Amino acid sequence: MTKIIATTPFLDQKPGTSGLRKKVRVFQQPHYLENFVQSIFDSITIPSGATLTLGGDGRFYNRVAIQTIIKMAAANGFSCVLVGQGGILSTPAASHLIRKYQTLGGIILSASHNPAGPSDDFGIKYNTANGGPAPEKITEAIFAKSKVISEYKTANFVDIDIGTLGETKRDGLTVKVIDPVVDYADLMTSMFDFDAIKSLLKSGFSMKFDAMHAVTGPYAKELFLSRLGAAENCLMNCEVSETFGGGHPDPNLTYAHELVEILYGKNAPDFGAASDGDGDRNMILGKNFFVTPSDSLAIIAANAKLISAYSNGLAGVARSMPTSGAVDRVAKKLHIPCFETPTGWKFFGNLMDADKVTLCGEESFGTGSNHVREKDGLWAVLCWLNIIAAKNMSVEAIVKTHWAEYGRNIYSRHDYEAISAVLANGVIAHIKVQFATLPNKIFGKYTIKTCDDFSYTDPIDGSVSTAQGIRILFDDGSRIVFRLSGTGTEGATLRIYLEAFEPDVSKHHLDAQVALREMIQVALEISQLKQRTGREKPTVIT
Ligand code: G1P
Ligand code: ZN
Repeated sequence: MTKIIATTPFLDQKPGTSGLRKKVRVFQQPHYLENFVQSIFDSITIPSGATLTLGGDGRFYNRVAIQTIIKMAAANGFSCVLVGQGGILSTPAASHLIRKYQTLGGIILSASHNPAGPSDDFGIKYNTANGGPAPEKITEAIFAKSKVISEYKTANFVDIDIGTLGETKRDGLTVKVIDPVVDYADLMTSMFDFDAIKSLLKSGFSMKFDAMHAVTGPYAKELFLSRLGAAENCLMNCEVSETFGGGHPDPNLTYAHELVEILYGKNAPDFGAASDGDGDRNMILGKNFFVTPSDSLAIIAANAKLISAYSNGLAGVARSMPTSGAVDRVAKKLHIPCFETPTGWKFFGNLMDADKVTLCGEESFGTGSNHVREKDGLWAVLCWLNIIAAKNMSVEAIVKTHWAEYGRNIYSRHDYEAISAVLANGVIAHIKVQFATLPNKIFGKYTIKTCDDFSYTDPIDGSVSTAQGIRILFDDGSRIVFRLSGTGTEGATLRIYLEAFEPDVSKHHLDAQVALREMIQVALEISQLKQRTGREKPTVIT
């Protein structure tokens, strides 16, 4: 039986590219989650027989939200909900299920790498039938509906047992509790040379994968232990915890320090990798060696033919604007197109749906391909293992050989987190007023060629996205990019992306922070960041 519950508007903010992220206590307010879910359902057409994919990263409030959404799906006319057992689905696995079972769409419950727990974050996002994040026109419709919502529909049956595999029928809705891992693991098995990776792992090659207490734990166990025969000690933090073990599951040098210490310590393994809260991000490490995500994308592109899924080559590649130009150099050599898109995964989806792009990635530890419509952490790890197995080289040797061939795009991102929005906007405005006078200005060895605020016209649907980040381009191909984060939950986060192209092999061994020292000074001088925000140094350097 359907209940209609009177309610009032609630949303103060448009859902971003990764859906709606708020503190758990915000979601716990009466009708808050329900209003958002109803706004989603009111923004799409639900034909008869429609199926919804549903799952999340296992964080606190995941199970509660799943029961609410199942009941609302029943009342809103869905015929079936596919839910991951225990409420678990990694973001890439959810994307795959939507595509494989051709469901109308999916709801993914995650705040990605943000900490989890009663006083931390929760999130919810809608993905469409192509498996990718909802496009702007749908998120705008959701926001518009949320401003005028007056009621929501829900069913009043008892909670479904989502811990047990099987089917339950309630009020005309079939709830299928499915294994969250097997379809995804089958997809991975079909894409990579598992026999070669198995032999590599048997040959004495050692690895460590860190799930950071988040969603990829069960996926990693199935892939690495069951299907690839790795020893149990190859995995760490692979039990999903509602608080992510009290950590911040963002796979970078700051937050994945436990893994970083192992890879930079005594008797370090040959390979290390980590993924984030919902399994879409990845970090790749070698013995005493860090692979920047920009280099990782370029190297996967350059070696894609070694991976069976891409043995026929790539249609094209894409990177977000702040991602380094390393992949552009590979695309040039391969004679394939390379697209530069604004930050955020949704821009890649159109290109992949139109078969213009096979691989894509972002500097923010996100890499992926057209096998799903989200970035995919474990997929990236398997790419590296497959390439290592095929080339029989260490991570460091693979990267250095790549640099020797293409030159090195020395790269780093400096984040200034939780600064007041007024001050952060002031920094951006201060840079913009200099647009007319910056070109041809000389800073030590760097001369500015051009500067602009990046704008993108989608080649498929013609939509235009403006104000996507400030680019300062130097005449030797080096760049500084300034951008305000769209995902932070506290104040503003200002990101400075630094990139210097270095063709000279004798300088390739340099530490990025050392090699970029002069560039960092130029960025601080142009932005007046210290003077304007009082910040002496970045919160996070990657
Ligand atoms: C950050 C990353 C961006 C990524 C997004 C979602 O967004 O920089 O590349 O797509 O998270 O994972 P930002 O906070 O910079 O807006
Ligand atoms: Zn994520």
